[in-house]
Amino acid sequence: MTRPLALITGATAGIGAQFCRSLAARGYDLVGVARDGARLDALATELAPLGATLTPLVADLSTDDGIARVESTLADGHVSLLVNNAGFGTTGTLVSADATQQRAMLTLHVEAVHRLTRAALPGMLAARRGGVIVVASVAGFLSSGGNVNYCATKTWQRVFVQGLHQELAGSGVHVQALCPGFTTTEFHARMGFDQRGRTPAWMWYPAEFVVRASLDAIARGGPVIVIPGAVYKAVVFLARHLPLWMVERLNGVYRRDTV
Ligand SMILES: NC(=O)c1ccc[n+]([C@@H]2O[C@H](COP(=O)([O-])OP(=O)(O)OC[C@H]3O[C@@H](n4cnc5c(N)ncnc54)[C@H](OP(=O)(O)O)[C@@H]3O)[C@@H](O)[C@H]2O)c1
Repeated sequence: MTRPLALITGATAGIGAQFCRSLAARGYDLVGVARDGARLDALATELAPLGATLTPLVADLSTDDGIARVESTLADGHVSLLVNNAGFGTTGTLVSADATQQRAMLTLHVEAVHRLTRAALPGMLAARRGGVIVVASVAGFLSSGGNVNYCATKTWQRVFVQGLHQELAGSGVHVQALCPGFTTTEFHARMGFDQRGRTPAWMWYPAEFVVRASLDAIARGGPVIVIPGAVYKAVVFLARHLPLWMVERLNGVYRRDTV
């Protein structure tokens, strides 16, 4: 029997690498997308004993060329699960942070997610089955100084998925915005920011926990928004239900001490 095929962006580390491990264990073959080819090869070797083939696809998704190469892989219609996961954070204010990196974030979090999802859906709709997961964030319900572009792009991802969910009703294709809080990955170290030293241990979840919540939900066909962990369900509940002036105070607590 042929194994279903999943394409995961940001497959070399953290949540994306965990998606690869968990999907391999659930019977998928994989296309892993990232910039670091050596790490993709190492992951392919690690997953082979599970009977899973991981095909490395080296692409920088903050470039037009990188996005176009992944689009053309998706266009053949063989991918039944797309995980738009690649992402990064920055430190500094909108004005003080590196402008090139800020533009790269817009391309990676918004344009790449838009184009790859658009490329994957026709094949899924024709087959009347499939799924698209976008790894957004609890930050997609918040706004924060020191995190302006990150919160805005994560909000775009969440709203994009919620709208798409309505368009795809009854099509057999499921979409999900996965909205984790602090997750133990390389994310904060890559930013050069010691978030772990500044936040209590109970606010951190392992990538395995986050990915299990996502895959269990998409296997059930819903819900469209998945927020792993009681801590972050509570944060989002407050952000959506408190009066606006109180939400602004909450955002102030979240404000990153890096500006
Ligand atoms: N960790 C958290 O606390 C947290 C919380 C909420 C949401 N998230 C979201 O979760 C997602 C995954 O983050 P993570 O925590 O797993 O971070 P991570 O451990 O730093 O992994 C990020 C992955 O994205 C890839 N990537 C980054 N820029 C890329 C680019 N331009 N083109 C292609 N691939 C790129 C990296 O691979 P290469 O370097 O090899 O390209 C790596 O595989 C992100 O969208 C992030 O916003 C994370």
